[in-house]
Amino acid sequence: MHSGMASTLQSIKLHSGLKKILINEDVLQARVGELGREIGAFYADRPPLLIGVLTGGFMFMADLSRAMAVPLRVDFMAVSSYGDATNTTGVVRILKDLDRSIEGRRILIVEDIIDSGLTLNYLVEVLRGRKPADIRIVALLKKERERSVAIEADWVGFEIPDEFVVGYGLDYAGKYRNLPFIAVCAPDISGTA
Ligand code: IMP
Ligand code: MG
Repeated sequence: MHSGMASTLQSIKLHSGLKKILINEDVLQARVGELGREIGAFYADRPPLLIGVLTGGFMFMADLSRAMAVPLRVDFMAVSSYGDATNTTGVVRILKDLDRSIEGRRILIVEDIIDSGLTLNYLVEVLRGRKPADIRIVALLKKERERSVAIEADWVGFEIPDEFVVGYGLDYAGKYRNLPFIAVCAPDISGTA
């Protein structure tokens, strides 16, 4: 059992600029646990290398990997889009690369959110060039919106409305990553809607 309600109220008091809670801590933890068990079972024969996409994916990676009952390995990549936030080009710069070769390994990319899908699309192309045995994708969140690129995650935690969200690893200008739930930013600070 999580003390979801109490910590939620505490966090709300600590953080201004939130419009509403979209996914509360209990619902979030239940779904991440469910995903971990399902994905763990999928990889039971041959465990994968989990590749966490920093920084947003750090909390999901920590909880998901603990819910997967297989002897897996983890590594992290940090990427940044060229151009500004509102004009993603789809080309990403690798700020931190993997520590080891992925050739011949099964890899699972662990992402926080699929918005346009451009970042993930590029990342998959880069990693595919390194000849892993297979590549699969799990995204905690996926926005319901039109996309210029077709990107299919193998597992998605929650489909969410096309709004700017924060918490559980996701930030607005570096803030809110430590919230234990997913919240929608207030319009005045996020600049959306
Ligand atoms: P995409 O390339 O448009 O799919 O999104 C790239 C990255 O933008 C994601 O991995 C997130 O780090 C960030 N991002 C997209 N939407 C949101 C949001 O609603 N809140 C916080 N970060 C977001
Ligand atoms: Mg990200």
